[in-house]
Amino acid sequence: MSTSDFLLLVILVAAAASSWFTSVGLVDACVPKEKEALLEFKKAITIDHDRMLEAWQPDEEDDCCQWDYVHCSNLTGGHVVELHLGDSRGSGGLTGEISPSLLSLQHLEFLDLSGNSLQGRTGKIPEFLGSLQSLRYLDLSFVPFSGSVPPQLGNLSKLEELHLLDAGVQMHSTDLWWLTHLPLLWNLDLGSNNITGPFPAFMGNLTNLRTLNLGVNHLSGHLPSEISRLAKLTSLDLTQNYFDGLITEEHLDGLESLDYIDLSYTNLKIMVYSKWTPTFRLHEAYFSGCEIGPLFPAWLKLQVNLHRLDISNASINDRLPDWFSNTFSKVTYLDISNNQISGGLPKNMDIMSLEALYSSSNNLTGQIPPLPRSLNFMDISKNSLSGPLPTKFGAPNLDTIILYSNYLSGQVPTSICELSLWGLDLANNLFEGEFPQCLNMTQMAYLLLGNNSFSGSFPPFIRRCTNLSFLILAWNRFTGTVPEWIGSCRSLQFLRLNHNMFHGNIPNNITSLTKLYHLNLADNWISGAIPQHLSNLTSLTRTFALDPYTVPAGFQNTVGDLSIDIKRQKLNYHGAVILELLSIDLSSNYLRGKIPEEMTSLGGLVNLNLSHNQLDGEISDQIGAMLWLESLDLSSNHLSGEIPSSISILAHLSVLDLSNNNLSGRIPSGGQLDTLYSYMPSMYDGNKGLCGPPLQQTCPSNNIPVHGDDEHYSKSMSFGLGIGYVVGLWVVFVTLLFQKTRRIAYFLLLDKFYDKIYVFVAVTCRLFTRKADTS
Ligand SMILES: *[C@@H]1O[C@H](CO)[C@@H](O)[C@H](O)[C@H]1NC(C)=O
Ligand SMILES: *[C@@H]1O[C@H](CO)[C@@H](O)[C@H](O)[C@H]1NC(C)=O
Ligand SMILES: *[C@@H]1O[C@H](CO)[C@@H](O)[C@H](O)[C@H]1NC(C)=O
Ligand SMILES: *[C@@H]1O[C@H](CO)[C@@H](O)[C@H](O)[C@H]1NC(C)=O
Ligand SMILES: *[C@@H]1O[C@H](CO)[C@@H](O)[C@H](O)[C@H]1NC(C)=O
Ligand SMILES: *[C@@H]1O[C@H](CO)[C@@H](O)[C@H](O)[C@H]1NC(C)=O
Ligand SMILES: *[C@@H]1O[C@H](CO)[C@@H](O)[C@H](O)[C@H]1NC(C)=O
Repeated sequence: MSTSDFLLLVILVAAAASSWFTSVGLVDACVPKEKEALLEFKKAITIDHDRMLEAWQPDEEDDCCQWDYVHCSNLTGGHVVELHLGDSRGSGGLTGEISPSLLSLQHLEFLDLSGNSLQGRTGKIPEFLGSLQSLRYLDLSFVPFSGSVPPQLGNLSKLEELHLLDAGVQMHSTDLWWLTHLPLLWNLDLGSNNITGPFPAFMGNLTNLRTLNLGVNHLSGHLPSEISRLAKLTSLDLTQNYFDGLITEEHLDGLESLDYIDLSYTNLKIMVYSKWTPTFRLHEAYFSGCEIGPLFPAWLKLQVNLHRLDISNASINDRLPDWFSNTFSKVTYLDISNNQISGGLPKNMDIMSLEALYSSSNNLTGQIPPLPRSLNFMDISKNSLSGPLPTKFGAPNLDTIILYSNYLSGQVPTSICELSLWGLDLANNLFEGEFPQCLNMTQMAYLLLGNNSFSGSFPPFIRRCTNLSFLILAWNRFTGTVPEWIGSCRSLQFLRLNHNMFHGNIPNNITSLTKLYHLNLADNWISGAIPQHLSNLTSLTRTFALDPYTVPAGFQNTVGDLSIDIKRQKLNYHGAVILELLSIDLSSNYLRGKIPEEMTSLGGLVNLNLSHNQLDGEISDQIGAMLWLESLDLSSNHLSGEIPSSISILAHLSVLDLSNNNLSGRIPSGGQLDTLYSYMPSMYDGNKGLCGPPLQQTCPSNNIPVHGDDEHYSKSMSFGLGIGYVVGLWVVFVTLLFQKTRRIAYFLLLDKFYDKIYVFVAVTCRLFTRKADTS
């Protein structure tokens, strides 16, 4: 055998062996340089919250192509082509820096680093990513970068998808010109960033674009008609920007592939010829807050594929068209709320596929028509509907019915018991008679029947409602006693029974309702004593009691509307109503005996009204421990003794009424107290024994005035301080110190609460989508 023959043989054997090894996978498929690069990448990670990279080890036999989240190509000789390192769990993922070692992965086509804290020290999107020439997919969403997207990304000539959702991008829109260098880009997601400036006309030149998300940014100005060049665009999301001006046929005609459009909260006005027919067939359309009225948009008539439609708050002042049910027969999510839609709901609404119907705040009249069988959420509150509820709901999955503030009348049909209701709001209507005895409404969480003419006893079925958290029976004609078993409704947070004809005692075990933060039994015929053990109402003992997230969307309005019978309406802040929810109102009943000392342990209480009863005894010296009290009304009782000076340390007090009692002695001074009298000069009226400023009546000479704190000190010394009072006083000092920040924090919390409602709605929507998808 010649040397050359031998060499040939060696080569053949080697080749055969190599192909054999490859086919059974024994060969190290990983390119050493790339393995090195991945290990370098790992080195730049300071925290690996989910131990994603645990398997990435430098051992020699280790094949990096077998590592988690790494995909190699079996065509290009085992090069790393994909890195799937997105933190879909949202648990923190990777913290650190994106190592430039990735540049060694010249075959990398797919890079997903979303949801990781990989902004590094600079916080910038690394420019070197623009040198990963093979990239087709880049996802840096939810990485908390700051600043602009580097124009170097314009070198990624193969890029098809760029995802930068909520990635801290802050830049001017015109600085995105390099996007025009990406001829293959079809999916561009720059949503939820801070991009300012206009919608640049060059966007119209990305003609391969199919999905464009620029929603939740700070874009402004007119929408250029160049947008209509995006003939392949299927999804357009421009929600929550500061655009203005018109959208006409000129913008829309070219968008013939459009399937999804979200222009909500953009201030855009859609103005098209009445006979205009769009070239697209939408599946989802969101125009909330846009101006598409005053006529109901006729161009929607051919949008028969719509599944989700939001035309709320869109300046529509019209009746629903007669094609409504037929055209929108596939719609599962429909929001037409906050318009001025008049006339009736369509009689043939039952042919629709609706799962969620939002139509509150319109001028809808007439009766509730037969409902779509698929319906599970219905809000037609704040309209002018009349007549009775349907005897058959015809929607077996209906779990939320919100109909407050209409003119609905008659009895609630027993068929309502067939529904597994989660929430029912019939407040502010003309219903009458007894509420049906539904035995199996165990999942009910919100039952709001206030301001109707319901009669009969406290509905016994409530006993089984272990999930009930909001119960309003106020302003009706209920009779009988408040049942002892109310204490077993452990989820109750909000209980209003005021303005009925309940009699008997307040059940003692009402104090086992540890989640209760709002109790109103005012204006009934309730007698007996105020229960002891009030310190069991732990939601109210915490000075930071309110969990503002507990008032759900849809119900918040009713709860708010009905709870404004506290005097302090002048506080205009939208959170004020909620603050007042931390309240006990037992006024205008026949309560006797002393105010339990334990009541002063309810340090979170904002409103306490015990007026117009027959309470006697003295006001507790520890009243100063009720730090957050803003309104205290003890008027028209038989209270005697002196006004405790600790009342003057209630820094938030803005309403105090002690009139028409049998109080005596010198009126304490200092703090809030001194200003209150000018607003409410009757606050001490009808107490024969009170003396000293601000009253004209001077105190008898044996009661020599001592000034300010000295007086308070001497009184404290003579009567002895309760421990609660001392603690209260101390907390007040601390509170005064931090008051401002704390109060701001509180309001911020309330602001979040409103955000939360938005989130709730979003989540509900998503639930419906998911439900729709599974069915
Ligand atoms: C490459 O590997 C993948 C999965 O390992 C396989 O599905 C694919 O068919 C392979 N391609 C070729 C050309 O061998
Ligand atoms: C958005 O960016 C502008 C400057 O481009 C800045 O003034 C503004 O504060 C930013 N807004 C937010 C919410 O970050
Ligand atoms: C309706 O939209 C306008 C802006 O178009 C906005 O100012 C207003 O707050 C919206 N109202 C409701 C109830 O959403
Ligand atoms: C509740 O009971 C009624 C009869 O009282 C029955 O028709 C209905 O199917 C029941 N609903 C559920 C959810 O169990
Ligand atoms: C109050 O709570 C205590 C335990 O925290 C419990 O033993 C007592 O029964 C409760 N009282 C009432 C009236 O619920
Ligand atoms: C307390 O209740 C009475 C009667 O229910 C009411 O007239 C009064 O305005 C209430 N006091 C305050 C401060 O709201
Ligand atoms: C008023 O209070 C005094 C004690 O301060 C008591 O002697 C008197 O009986 C009380 N009057 C009424 C009408 O309750």
